[in-house]
Amino acid sequence: MNHESEFAQWLNQQRGSQYELHSRYINPAFVKMIKTIGFDKNYVRGEGPYLWDADGVRYLDLLTGWGVFLLGRNHPKVRDTVRQVLDSYSPNLVRMECSLLAGLVAEALIQRMPEGLSRVFFTNSGTESVETAIKFSRCNTGRDKIVYCDHAFHGLTTGSLSINGAEFFRQRFGALLPGTSAIPFNDLPALERALAGKDVAAFILEPVQGKSCEVVKDGYLAEAQRLCKKAGTLLVVDEVQTGMGRTGKWFCFQHWPEVEPDIICIAKGLSGGMVPVGAVVTRPSIMDGVFNSMERCVVHSNTFGQNDLAMAAAYASIQVTEDEKLVENAAILGNYAMAKLAEIGRSCPFVTEVRGKGLMFGIDFARPKDSLKLRLAWDALHKLNYGVFGQMIVIPLLNRHKILTQVAGYHTEVIKFLPPITVNRADMDWFLSAMQSVLDDVQRFPGAAWDTVLGLAKSSLKVS
Ligand SMILES: Cc1ncc(COP(=O)(O)O)c(C=O)c1O
Repeated sequence: MNHESEFAQWLNQQRGSQYELHSRYINPAFVKMIKTIGFDKNYVRGEGPYLWDADGVRYLDLLTGWGVFLLGRNHPKVRDTVRQVLDSYSPNLVRMECSLLAGLVAEALIQRMPEGLSRVFFTNSGTESVETAIKFSRCNTGRDKIVYCDHAFHGLTTGSLSINGAEFFRQRFGALLPGTSAIPFNDLPALERALAGKDVAAFILEPVQGKSCEVVKDGYLAEAQRLCKKAGTLLVVDEVQTGMGRTGKWFCFQHWPEVEPDIICIAKGLSGGMVPVGAVVTRPSIMDGVFNSMERCVVHSNTFGQNDLAMAAAYASIQVTEDEKLVENAAILGNYAMAKLAEIGRSCPFVTEVRGKGLMFGIDFARPKDSLKLRLAWDALHKLNYGVFGQMIVIPLLNRHKILTQVAGYHTEVIKFLPPITVNRADMDWFLSAMQSVLDDVQRFPGAAWDTVLGLAKSSLKVS
């Protein structure tokens, strides 16, 4: 027996102990939450859009590791590319040289960008891309201030947290970056006011907000770009979640052809989920303004950036996305799923809206207007715990319909769906018929769905 199969065999024997290990060594509160909502499965395999548990039950994964498995899990071509690089004994991370693979990935990204954006800085995560954008903007403008949007999510390291649009995430972590201020999403007059002092380094936004699935209005980005230019502020578009084809274009801002941001943040799906990676794409003037001399040529850097495994996975992922026409698939199946889900939602008095772009979409719920009985049920639940309503959707989706999803964020009713962009019509129909059934059930009060969620809300745990 070779070492590889010995390890796999040994690992198999450990299966089932993960919750106890995490309780003991990693995050007991997380384990408690997962167990409370019955998500403590024993997944043993992932392939394409599916996960399998130890009993051989197949699940449709619409959470995709918070969006990283854009190409589904373990895409054969990405795996094979990574394996080839491993087998080649590549001279990885020499550092005092230039990596060929990083150059090739940079070129592949630039080929999919507007002309003026032709420099790439590689990172290891979404938040690191955002931190990079903050530093590049400050360095180039000589200004400190950053404007961001209410409900924004740009990551959880200290700089990114300073531009997080939810108080919940910021509380208890002390003083954050000075000079940051929030404006309402999609509000151009508010942006104009925020930039009026001509002292803002950057305006950063997600074209589809991850926490709410709100989409920028048609014309918003172009006008924001004009206002930023006028004020000498850089426009930073955070495409960590929306990028790499998810919304039906390579990058979401490309839905509006006149838009050319100054800085674009990328991560998540860039490597098909295989290896942590991120990138910042910007103009030569901005990049060269940071690295403006030989002495300062690594003034912003990271140890693992440009590593061969990440670069190989990224190169293969870009090729697969192109060859398999996955950007087009995201547009077609996203439109299909959103239209059908909106149709299904019309028969459920709790549903207020289905929104999103391509294969990043959500369903939003609110207190029903017409049914007194359902309104009372809603009120009783919200008195106990705000934001627990969504569990009435995600729990049966997993346990009855074998579909993995999650509530979009803390203290929100939105449930977001992030299918892989390789998903097919049959799997979308699996999801849509499950949603029909679950939305029928939430209208039965009293009923089993309400019993479960009222029980959860009464528990001292915050499960939203
Ligand atoms: C838009 C956006 N920016 C940044 C981040 C942070 O990415 P990471 O978790 O890789 O640091 C996320 C993560 O969900 C995101 O959605």
